[in-house]
Amino acid sequence: ARVVVLASGSGSTLQALLDAADPAWRVVAVGSDKPAVTALDRAAAAGVETFTVSPRDFADRPAWDTALAAEIARREPDLVVLAGFMRILGAPVVEAFGGRLVNTHPALLPSFPGAHGVRDALAHGVKVTGCTVHLVDAGVDTGPILDQVAVRVLDDDDEATLHERIKTHERALLVDVVGRLARSLPTPTPERTAPR
Ligand code: GRF
Repeated sequence: ARVVVLASGSGSTLQALLDAADPAWRVVAVGSDKPAVTALDRAAAAGVETFTVSPRDFADRPAWDTALAAEIARREPDLVVLAGFMRILGAPVVEAFGGRLVNTHPALLPSFPGAHGVRDALAHGVKVTGCTVHLVDAGVDTGPILDQVAVRVLDDDDEATLHERIKTHERALLVDVVGRLARSLPTPTPERTAPR
């Protein structure tokens, strides 16, 4: 299966996908909303093509969403995976790839959705948090949950130590779920031989 990954940051989650040697799928492209993020360097180092669709290059969010959907579609993905992608996707992307659009979140949804799930869980004083892999729908962190892993919060945890511990489980969970989804797809896109 052909997987396109979207990332906005350091790309350690992306790296786990790039390193996964699962014959059922491969990362065919990595997209970002910002140029020169480490995630794009990781893709390039793995020989995977990259693209950037930056909101500041567009008049409004719908134009950005439409351009992003077109860039993703050009790679003919079977699955689109958000690996630390810090933008809310609008209807053009969700409608184009809904049902094949996967996100990972560093909290046990529906608890602590949004951009600060780790910080919010810590601030709330939970003893157990974790990570969630889910399908993306029109909401924020609200789509059908595919799988979750629980992670215990330690007394001396701060946001960084807790997030790092969650990430170790999150990477493995995402690779596992992508493999399951890839095997569940009806008909894999026949791999083209000629480079596009
Ligand atoms: C991951 O925990 C992801 O769930 C969250 O941000 C983190 C991304 O980390 N949205 P990285 O950029 O992949 O290292």
